[in-house]
Amino acid sequence: MSRISASGDNVASSVDHLNARILIGEDPAEAGRLAAEVILETVKANPAAVIGLATGSSPLPLYAALAVSDADFSRVSGFALDEYLGLPDGHPQSYAEVVRTEVTDPLGLDPVLVHTPEPHGQDHAADAEAYDAAIRAAGGIDVQILGIGSNGHIGFNEPGSAFDSRTRVVPLAERTRQDNARFFASPEEVPEQCVTQGIGTIFEARQLLLIAHGEHKAEAVRLALEGPVGQEFPASVIQRHPNVTVVLDRAAAARLGEQAKP
Ligand code: F6R
Repeated sequence: MSRISASGDNVASSVDHLNARILIGEDPAEAGRLAAEVILETVKANPAAVIGLATGSSPLPLYAALAVSDADFSRVSGFALDEYLGLPDGHPQSYAEVVRTEVTDPLGLDPVLVHTPEPHGQDHAADAEAYDAAIRAAGGIDVQILGIGSNGHIGFNEPGSAFDSRTRVVPLAERTRQDNARFFASPEEVPEQCVTQGIGTIFEARQLLLIAHGEHKAEAVRLALEGPVGQEFPASVIQRHPNVTVVLDRAAAARLGEQAKP
């Protein structure tokens, strides 16, 4: 594992078994620009790249940095990580809407090439299977953008999710509903269920790009990168992936290299 700050200095790492490259920006905006370089390299190498799209607050500086780049995203495909169940079409917090307003429109993606999991169908299992099949049919995901939940979730794979899980409907953990209440008018409005790419689905991406900001994410980042690998902390699966870039601001990186607290 190498740890590189935005100023370019390499910081010795305590975790040598990891394949992760860790990029640290001073603040979320700088981290967003560093993460944008990863996507821009990918799209430069393949203008028809397939990108896995996280929602939530963590990737917003990345999307903002991409929106002001002069790259052409018109042939890029996008697959959202997850979608809430139970929100009406067009709800501003539905991830279909968030992806449209934060990614598709500002970056100029072709809406036909942008996919979000179907939350309204009669047969959720069939819809979920079709979503994984669509990812495969597109050639697989080149870079999967990920945030991390304070409880270690990736996508909405909450603690206990199997590492070989596929796209499926899952209940949201209470802690996740509390964390996400800030996006809704009241905590009760946060949906109780969602459909998420599975950990197995996420793991098949050729590169994982995990983004975290803020002191409140520092412990989750430490556990993901330096904690034991296991389904109790889903993000720890990234330690097994051969091609991971983690982009942090200083505050989220603050606990890396610390000894585990008893
Ligand atoms: C969003 C997603 C979630 C978030 C995570 C962090 O599509 O899958 O795993 O990435 O909950 O959310 P933020 O970035 O809002 O802290």
